[in-house]
Amino acid sequence: MILLDGKTVSQAVKDTLKEKTKDFRSKGNRAPHLAAVLVGSNGASETYVASKIKNCQEVGFKSSLIRLVENIAEEELIEAIEKLNTDDAIDGILVQLPLPKQINEERIINLIDPRKDVDGFHPVNIGKMVQGLPTFIPATPYGILLILEYYKIETSGKHAVVIGRSNIVGRPISILLSRNSYPGNCTVTVCHSRTKNLKEICLQADIIVAALGIPEFLKADMVKENAVVIDVGITRVADASKKSGFALKGDVDFANVAPKCSYITPVPGGVGLMTIAALLMNTLTACENKFDI
Ligand code: GUN
Repeated sequence: MILLDGKTVSQAVKDTLKEKTKDFRSKGNRAPHLAAVLVGSNGASETYVASKIKNCQEVGFKSSLIRLVENIAEEELIEAIEKLNTDDAIDGILVQLPLPKQINEERIINLIDPRKDVDGFHPVNIGKMVQGLPTFIPATPYGILLILEYYKIETSGKHAVVIGRSNIVGRPISILLSRNSYPGNCTVTVCHSRTKNLKEICLQADIIVAALGIPEFLKADMVKENAVVIDVGITRVADASKKSGFALKGDVDFANVAPKCSYITPVPGGVGLMTIAALLMNTLTACENKFDI
């Protein structure tokens, strides 16, 4: 079994980004600039956004954190985004999800200028992705592709089973794995909460992407020998032995599944780290597009 190490791969991606940014700036351009919008103070969102900002610094990007109160009115949030849309100094906009109940998430996502939508959530960018056109691929699926690529994992003709159909992970990765490119050319089955015979379907999989958000859902008896397992889950589970009071659990029963796999991602230290590296890649692309590079 080979561990797909998100730390190694994300560091390699960030090293490349650092070099590219240096090169870009040496030509007289300003640094790429990511604006992160954080509404309220959800613990997990705080952690993710802080990490995104820190990683921007590491690769030489500029970043701005726009903090807004939990009970903000939708119109006020819209105003803040419109300001970022028209600000020439901003290349990428990221609105951390989930948003509070009073906000219509779809309305907000649709409002972000697609050229600055480094999360790749805007319908225009999703449409381009489906058609295989150059666009911003959503960060988590993009991160998964980068891991597969780094470890040169064969995907052509393989049966990939994706568990989960979210707009952020399950749906886009199922489309990307079926593309006529590398990584891609898989036969893809999308499974979800209403799927019958999930175990039988998973047992046919050469590649399993577990993205349903239920800790340790994928058990060893659902995985065939030598499968590639990508664990996208990252749920906080109460754990009194930890200083933080919680442990991070993936969607895979790692201890029992790992010995059967050819490759597997750990949690933490797998896909989660790649998500940020992929977001930074999209931010550099947004900046380069602006300067027509
Ligand atoms: N919340 C969970 N994942 C994501 C992500 O990839 N982007 C944003 N903006 N919010 C998230």
